[in-house]
Amino acid sequence: MEMPIFEPHHTYTQRSYKKYGRVYGGYDMTRRTIAINDPELLKDIMVKDFHIFPDHKHFYTGSSKISQSIFFLPGDDNWKRIRSIMSPAFSSGKLKAMMAHISDISDVFITNLEPYAKSGEAFNIRHKVGAFAMDVISACAYGINVDTLNNPDHPVVVNAQRILSVDLTWQQVIGMLMPRVAKMFKLEFFDLQATTYFDKLTNQILKERKHNNKYTNSRRTDFIQLMIDSEKSNTDLGYDSNSDVDVTPQEVAEGAAKLSKGTLTADELTAQSILLYIAGYDTTSASIANALFYLSQNPECQRLLAHELKACDEFTYEKLVHLKYLNGVINETLRLAPSLTRNARECIQDYKLGNTGITIPKGTSVEIYPHAIHRDPEFWPSPDTFKPDRWFEPTHHPMAFQAFGAGPRLCIGQRFAMNEMRMCLAKLIHRYHFTLAQEPELDFFNGVPLMSPKKLIVKIQSR
Ligand code: HEM
Repeated sequence: MEMPIFEPHHTYTQRSYKKYGRVYGGYDMTRRTIAINDPELLKDIMVKDFHIFPDHKHFYTGSSKISQSIFFLPGDDNWKRIRSIMSPAFSSGKLKAMMAHISDISDVFITNLEPYAKSGEAFNIRHKVGAFAMDVISACAYGINVDTLNNPDHPVVVNAQRILSVDLTWQQVIGMLMPRVAKMFKLEFFDLQATTYFDKLTNQILKERKHNNKYTNSRRTDFIQLMIDSEKSNTDLGYDSNSDVDVTPQEVAEGAAKLSKGTLTADELTAQSILLYIAGYDTTSASIANALFYLSQNPECQRLLAHELKACDEFTYEKLVHLKYLNGVINETLRLAPSLTRNARECIQDYKLGNTGITIPKGTSVEIYPHAIHRDPEFWPSPDTFKPDRWFEPTHHPMAFQAFGAGPRLCIGQRFAMNEMRMCLAKLIHRYHFTLAQEPELDFFNGVPLMSPKKLIVKIQSR
């Protein structure tokens, strides 16, 4: 199983799926891997037998605190504890309260596009969508108002972009393919200077919040505050970072086991806060850009969406959730262009794979290819056609839609991302008509499993 460096991952996964089928084995350098893309077998692996496949792909993430974030942690009790502290922050009630931030940031975005509507000039909207998503995640994770478009040199923007650098580095290739070698040579997967910046920022915010929470009753509705609020007893930890102390992963795990339920160390809180940028920024902005591409390419779909939006008197959380066509557009975009085109699970004990006659040996990495499953005509009739109405009364196998993963490790930010995409697209399409001003194919970055278009050139007209 390859880690393609000179092509986007989705073209590689689709080619392999067509050539070898839904289940096939291979090697990642020296590691044994098996691609499993059959929905029934995925149900076993991701849901029923989760205890045998609890981890994401093992790779070396370096010495930064990001290794303590839930995406990279093995799916043990430690991961469960952290995930259960984070989950209430992503409940519908909490997310509803965040819609006001998202709505305001969408309004700024719409106003920013006005000159292009007036001049009729073609422009690249990709980085503007990126700026919008950066403002949303900064406001909702840290409570910071960045205004990225007008402050591209803001340290939050500069450092987040350093972590999210779209070009695959050789350290990352080695970290994924040869984790032991990467560890031996202490290769950093993420930019250390940037993660240190977020570390300091989080600690500073925590100090301020601790102080303010003591003297006021008003609480902010950002993820940092919500994670603090969902902790039950942190008195013994007092949020003092132990980052200067050299501890082994085993000591960290033992220490974590001693923590009472509902408690995060300062380092863990920092790790989750940084993760929100990594997991939530580019995935969502790529999907908004991809949706604008499909809507520009399919004027009839855009007309139907504009019609639905016109009939909606206000864009609130409740109303947006029920807009059938809007939700169809977003799901159909995620089907054709799932932001993450590769997912994985690690097999931690020998496992009989359904009735295939295959036994997966312990230590094998299971590869899942969302983009390839989403283009399989057996699950999705006319798989390459953009058809938002196929979501009105969906008939697909639930595991044949893998954009947000599945089972206990399902994307924790799914509802947040859906809300953000609904609000942004609703306001954009309600206000402007989009036409494509570039070749009818998107160009994606090579070597990274993220379906993020490099550019999207459009023209807009006020409605
Ligand atoms: C369109 C947007 C997004 C897509 C397509 C997406 C997709 C995914 C996928 C495929 C996974 C792996 C799930 C699995 O292994 O079964 C994942 C995990 C995760 N996502 Fe998202 N995501 C998006 C937005 C977000 C946002 C906005 C946040 C947070 C604000 C977020 C936070 C996370 C976290 C924390 C995990 C790790 C969960 C765990 O391992 O327990 N994601 N996401």
